[in-house]
Amino acid sequence: MNESTNNCIDINAIRAEFPILSQAVNGHSLSYLDNGATAQKPRKVIDAINDYYETTNSNVHRGAHYLSDKATQQFEDARNTVQSFINAEHREEILWTRGTTESINLVAQTWGRANITKGDEIIISTLEHHSNIVPWQLLCEQSGATLKIINILDNGQLDIDHFKELLNESTKLVAVGHISNALGVINPIEKMTEMAHEAGAVILIDGAQATPHVEIDVKALNCDFYAFSGHKMFGPMGIGVLYGKKQLLEAMPPWQAGGEMIERVTFTKTTFNQLPYKFEAGTPNVAGAIGLAAAADYLNSLDRKAVSQYEDFLLDYATAALSDIEGLTIVGNNCEKASVVSFNIDGCHSQDLGMMLDQQGIAVRTGHHCTMPLMDALGISGTVRASFCFYNTTEEIDNLCKAIVKAKSLLV
Ligand code: ALA
Repeated sequence: MNESTNNCIDINAIRAEFPILSQAVNGHSLSYLDNGATAQKPRKVIDAINDYYETTNSNVHRGAHYLSDKATQQFEDARNTVQSFINAEHREEILWTRGTTESINLVAQTWGRANITKGDEIIISTLEHHSNIVPWQLLCEQSGATLKIINILDNGQLDIDHFKELLNESTKLVAVGHISNALGVINPIEKMTEMAHEAGAVILIDGAQATPHVEIDVKALNCDFYAFSGHKMFGPMGIGVLYGKKQLLEAMPPWQAGGEMIERVTFTKTTFNQLPYKFEAGTPNVAGAIGLAAAADYLNSLDRKAVSQYEDFLLDYATAALSDIEGLTIVGNNCEKASVVSFNIDGCHSQDLGMMLDQQGIAVRTGHHCTMPLMDALGISGTVRASFCFYNTTEEIDNLCKAIVKAKSLLV
């Protein structure tokens, strides 16, 4: 398959929907290969946000006026859209947060503080982003629980036998990423969910990197919590979602206080609102929720299977092309992966290489990718990461390879 033989998706038509992609950077046409950090926004998302501010802006749930009712309706419709996007059973299982990081912190500080005590164990993995490490470290410090870490194999895959060994009757929670942000490795979360449940543990999946690439069905997956961000899936920044099973969310104490999360406040006692509002303190990011729903609608309007096949094709194309460059080592290879290639070049610091690629119009991320423990386990300080999505082209990958060869000739 290539762009011209791919009859199911029209890359040029798709690219035309993303205004930012057509610009020049440093005198070169932009090759945006930093989708793991944030994805670009289609016109539909930009228009939804503009339209909200131009025609609807008002505070939700409080006002006895036309605009407030309209904003509330759109905000709650957005929740319904997200519910169906991840196939959650109940709409009140969708909590708005600022992003994946806040979603994970919410679970750590509510479910965690109510359920984790001294002697309990929490399992995470070597692949985790700092956002799925530090909240659990803080919880362990507060509760006296212990953090256990699943090892990785040489190819970057999780060592599932080690996971099996770590699970025991003290395991109360497993928190793992669906797709590794640094290497692109896809974890076997269906199997891991089953294994966690067999051990009597609750499982949280960090879905930040998965929602733009994989269709999510939380009901089929049967996970307890699933966290993700709007901006990684073509929506706006500053909005994200925590999905939680209703019976777990109902039993959890509130976290942040004030605003919509109360039922009745007196100076002697406060009672709390029902789900999902119990966890939504303060004025919410209404435009963000509407933008995120527009992004979900946009993704649903695509042929997801064809898009996924095309992204696999880009991954294979990039893996082959980059492997041909002398001295280049791909970190995390020969395993099930999303369209991410993380690599190093002998004798080049990842940051120097990233800067030289930028001068040639190529946007990549360099460094530790907020996964310092993973870099320590791999014995490296960082990588250059090219992360692709369905609007990228083989031409951009060719640009990347040419730019690497040029940078190498100057750096090595
Ligand atoms: N977590 C984001 C990344 O991987 C910022 O780049």
